Amino acid sequence: MADRKLLAVSDLHVAYPENRAILESLRPTSDEDWLIVAGDVAEQYATVEWALKLLSERFAKVIWVPGNHELWTPPKDPVDLRGEKRYLRLVELCRALGVSTPEDPYPVWEDDGGPVTVAPLFLLYDYSFRAPGASTKEESLRLAHEAGVVCTDEYLLHTDPYPSADAWCRARVARTEQRLSALPEGTRTVLVNHWPLTREPTRVLYYPEFAQWCGTELTRDWHLRFGAVSVVYGHLHIPRVIWRDGVRFEEVSVGYPREWRPRPPRRHLRQILPLPPRTEEGAR
Ligand SMILES: [Fe+2]
Ligand SMILES: [Fe+2]
Repeated sequence: MADRKLLAVSDLHVAYPENRAILESLRPTSDEDWLIVAGDVAEQYATVEWALKLLSERFAKVIWVPGNHELWTPPKDPVDLRGEKRYLRLVELCRALGVSTPEDPYPVWEDDGGPVTVAPLFLLYDYSFRAPGASTKEESLRLAHEAGVVCTDEYLLHTDPYPSADAWCRARVARTEQRLSALPEGTRTVLVNHWPLTREPTRVLYYPEFAQWCGTELTRDWHLRFGAVSVVYGHLHIPRVIWRDGVRFEEVSVGYPREWRPRPPRRHLRQILPLPPRTEEGAR
């Protein structure tokens, strides 16, 4: 038991051949390693299926949360489900592969450091990380359009039966908050969500207008309220570690080839548990 690891990766974007090769290279360090896959595996349903199947055959347990790219309904995908129906079809797929999702009981990780509940979350975004100078969602979206920085979600991520992403986000936040609040007092958690739980990681975005598609203010204190020892996220394609309030925030994304190619080589799988020693390092 001493050598097992909880590992994490996100934003594999395996439609790119170079990223497909990265996925194919991912291997556990022991027969008992678990792997968190924090969203943006691919867009086409069959590609997501291929990727999760391969990982579920290699790791003792795989824990998946959806990214915005899995939730898109891409043109020409034979699986043309939209919105919540698409999400639930992906949940069904995961269950058939034995992969844990935000709809399943939270798995509990055990090592010499004691039990930690690993909570995969699907919370989406509500445009509340507003563009600079905007005080409403409408203003924020207008500024993004004017700047030419509009997330493709606006065209491909459908939110049916919810009227908008923010309505879907609020429903997800309310339901998830109830589940996390029901955990026994003193439960230690790893909170996993594709989008960051706090606004802070978005402060370094090159285009600040993009932050409105990156999370919600509703979760800004969840790391403290729900006993997080680590918060795992992706989406920004800025892999790094930051510490706030004594909690480790890990962006575990791989990102697009044009983004990772210029960086120094790094291990793609991030160790989440056992907790690595505290540092203020950036990308590894
Ligand atoms: Fe991504
Ligand atoms: Fe994303």
